[in-house]
Amino acid sequence: MTSRSRYRLLFAISCVLFIYSFLNHHKFPLHFDVLWPGQQQSSSSRRPPPQPPIEERQQVPLASLESSFFTWSDPDAPPLPKPPYKPDPEPSLPIPDPFPLLSDYPPPSRKFLLQNVPKQSWKGHSKKGEAPLLIGFTRNWPLLLQCVTSYIAAGWPPSSIYVVENTGTMFSNRLGRLTLQNPFYLNHTQLGMLGVNVIITPTLLTFAQLQNFYLWTALNRNWDYFFWSHQDLLVFSPPNDPSSTLYSNVLSVLQYLQSPAAPKWAHHFFAYDHLTLVNLHAVLSVGGWDTHIPFYSTDCDMYTRLMWAGFWQGETPDVGLIFDVKTPVDDVGALLALPGTIPSFNGTVYEDVVEMGETMQEVKYNHGSDNSGRNTWQLRQRGGGDEPFYRDPVGFETGTQMMIDLGRRVFAEKWGHRGCDIALMEGIRGEDAWRLERDWEEEDGGEEDSW
Ligand SMILES: *[C@@H]1O[C@H](CO)[C@@H](O)[C@H](O)[C@H]1NC(C)=O
Ligand SMILES: *[C@@H]1O[C@H](CO)[C@@H](O)[C@H](O)[C@H]1NC(C)=O
Repeated sequence: MTSRSRYRLLFAISCVLFIYSFLNHHKFPLHFDVLWPGQQQSSSSRRPPPQPPIEERQQVPLASLESSFFTWSDPDAPPLPKPPYKPDPEPSLPIPDPFPLLSDYPPPSRKFLLQNVPKQSWKGHSKKGEAPLLIGFTRNWPLLLQCVTSYIAAGWPPSSIYVVENTGTMFSNRLGRLTLQNPFYLNHTQLGMLGVNVIITPTLLTFAQLQNFYLWTALNRNWDYFFWSHQDLLVFSPPNDPSSTLYSNVLSVLQYLQSPAAPKWAHHFFAYDHLTLVNLHAVLSVGGWDTHIPFYSTDCDMYTRLMWAGFWQGETPDVGLIFDVKTPVDDVGALLALPGTIPSFNGTVYEDVVEMGETMQEVKYNHGSDNSGRNTWQLRQRGGGDEPFYRDPVGFETGTQMMIDLGRRVFAEKWGHRGCDIALMEGIRGEDAWRLERDWEEEDGGEEDSW
């Protein structure tokens, strides 16, 4: 047979099959009726059997499990047993109000609150010279309020500070529905009393997503440059130099980086990325942050890709003091040197606030005294069980840790290497992402993510 006649035969058979199935279509019934506009439902035997009244029907997850997936299971099988409970988490003491003055009635005026804040550096900075500072927040209001307050005390104009509320609780905090013992509590009114702005993320974002949200925010607000800061910091202006503040010092760095003398740059760091200055269009030019690497090592990925793309990313020490802490001072108002407040931490009064900051940083890194890790501050608040968007605090931490581990594994697959030191690999370039074989052996059941 020639190929042409083969096709003719095939075509003829297809036609016969098509007509056959068309004539017999009622033998292959649909499980629902397709009604054309204006068509009346016919009262034929094809109609499904009558359903029980709506309130007596099986609910959705169970109904569809029964009908589609578990048809093999015995309908009379006993229910799945519920696993036993884990031991209760260790109780933790309720946290106190970190800045009682802000809860006073009538509320203190902004003028009163900011009376001792250095303001000379705010003058002469026009709207154009504005340096927005974004501080991401997910858990632990006392630490956030302490961080924000210390930036104000170090000369940062409150109107240029934007707390990015990344709690995933939508408007709950803005509407005052969460309380102090809830880990995701944040008081919009009190930040407003200090003159600080709040931006709410639409849903709970990972670190990498939050970074891209910062870029998006800057793009929408026409900020070519912005700063971002961790929320667990306590910052101070240089202690022995009354002529400068932390804010005036970072502004000078920004001015230099905007000048023609500056190299092509993307990020500039103050105490690594505790406080970071971002050049929006540089970061966008390499596609922003990789959200498949949600937390740790996504920074290695981002900064290294920018370096390979020819961007300089330097660091300036000594703009002020930046302490990494896990605990708040006893009264955050003391950071603003407000009348009636004394700088004290864990009941010990300090004459020098900077010395207090040093002690607080030691507490975070010295695990000897209490054997809790560096990030246990995220687990202090345990309340809020009946409030909107409640999540179990220990479970939230567990889920986050698992995503951190997963991110490290994605990073390793992406660059064929486990570790932040990918830049040391000879000849590697940004284009090599996902194209390199693993440079490690899989250990059987060993510690997969130990790097
Ligand atoms: C927030 O702070 C204001 C002012 O201190 C206070 O009146 C209000 O009760 C606080 N809101 C919540 C939900 O705690
Ligand atoms: C706070 O002080 C108490 C005793 O006064 C001490 O047991 C505890 O370890 C201190 N905590 C920190 C974080 O320094």
